[in-house]
Amino acid sequence: MNTGSRLMAVAALVALVAGCGRQDEEPGGGPDAAPPLTAETLGEQVVLSVTEYLATEPYASADRVNGERQAAFCRACHSLEKDGPHMIGPALYGFFGSKVGARQGFEYSAVMREADFIWTPEALDAWLHQPGRFMPGNRMVFAGVTDQRDRNDVIAHLLEVTSSGEH
Ligand code: HEC
Repeated sequence: MNTGSRLMAVAALVALVAGCGRQDEEPGGGPDAAPPLTAETLGEQVVLSVTEYLATEPYASADRVNGERQAAFCRACHSLEKDGPHMIGPALYGFFGSKVGARQGFEYSAVMREADFIWTPEALDAWLHQPGRFMPGNRMVFAGVTDQRDRNDVIAHLLEVTSSGEH
C-alpha cells in the first residue's frame, strides 16, 4: 500500500466512524437546529390541561407500555401517585401546570428553588433530555432519557398517572 491509498483508507474509516456517530443523533440535530431549551430560555409557555395535552400529538399516540417501562427509572427516586411521599426526589403527583421547585416539604437545590417556570410537557421534555444542561447545578442525579420517542412515551404516561384526570 502506498502512502496515498493508506491515507484514503484512513479517511474512509474516519468517515465510517463519523457516520456511525451521526445515526445516534436525533433528526433535526444538525448545525442549523435551534439551540436546546434550558430553564433560562424556556420563555412564556402555553399551559393546557392534562386532558388537552393527552389529546395532542405526540402524546395522544404515545406508546403507554414503553412509557410505563421508562417511568421505572423515575420511580426509583419519585413517587407518582396521589399523596405519595417525597423520596430522593420530590413527590410528583399533580406537578404538571405547577411551578418548578415548589413542592411543600422537599429540600431542593438552590438552582431549582430559584428557577421560575411552569412544568409543561415541553419543559419536562427539555429537562429529561439532559437535566444537567437544562438546569446546571441541579441535584437530580440522572443522565436523562436520550431518545425522543422514549421521552414522549414517558411524558404521556406521567400525564396520565400524576393527575386525577380532572384538570
Ligand atoms: C437518582 C434519582 C432520580 C431519578 C432517577 C429521577 N429523578 Fe427527578 N429529581 C430527583 C431529585 C433529587 C430532584 C430535585 C433536584 C434539585 O433539587 O435540584 C428531582 C427533580 C425532578 C423534577 C422537578 C420537580 C419539581 O418539584 O419542580 C421533575 C419534574 C423530575 N425530577 C422528573 C423526573 C422524571 C420524569 C424522571 C424519570 C424519567 C426522574 N425525575 C428521575 C431525583 C431523581
